Amino acid sequence: MPATLTPFFAARWSPRAFREDPLPLDQINTLFEAARRAPSCFNDQPWRFVYATRGPARARLLQTLAEANQIWAQRAPLLGIVFARKTFDATGKPNRWSEFDSGAAAMAIALQAHLLGIESHFMGGFDESAAATACAMDPKAWTAMAAFAIGKVGDPATLPEKLRERETGRSPRKPLAEVAHELTD
Ligand SMILES: Cc1cc2nc3c(=O)[nH]c(=O)nc-3n(C[C@H](O)[C@H](O)[C@H](O)COP(=O)(O)O)c2cc1C
Repeated sequence: MPATLTPFFAARWSPRAFREDPLPLDQINTLFEAARRAPSCFNDQPWRFVYATRGPARARLLQTLAEANQIWAQRAPLLGIVFARKTFDATGKPNRWSEFDSGAAAMAIALQAHLLGIESHFMGGFDESAAATACAMDPKAWTAMAAFAIGKVGDPATLPEKLRERETGRSPRKPLAEVAHELTD
């Protein structure tokens, strides 16, 4: 029988319309537990996920997002920033893989979220320096890699018209032959 992609991978997506319902604590913990299981260079686990679900902390995180992202992310029940440590914990030497590793941990969250019936949306549109301050993370030691919003998928009608049109579900992908090459010599 030919192998085919497990539909799960193509079903995950990054919505902009979120429901405001809070996420149960066990779901939140499960998301970050999935991140904890990601592989990393020397098993250094050089990631930090700083997040907020309510109160001034959540408002602070929302403020760090680009305006274009605030418009939709304001409804998401969980907002956060993923940081990558610049040096290895054990040796203090520069860790040039920490951004790769943090991305892997972030993907674990995205996949775990989809398995829980919720979705995530990562964002590069945020102010790095404001994010470090809002999260009390030393910007000399940590790179703010991406912001994220997580929650149940909401009604596109809650979005401004321009964004509503883009809320079609799945985004296109480059052809396989463009992104994966076998060396045959
Ligand atoms: C590092 C990163 C930065 C992104 N930045 C933004 C952003 O600032 N605003 C936004 O609306 N989406 C952002 N996205 C979401 C991507 O546009 C989205 O993942 C891509 O179009 C593929 O769509 P899919 O996740 O629904 O499959 C970002 C995603 C990643 C991984």
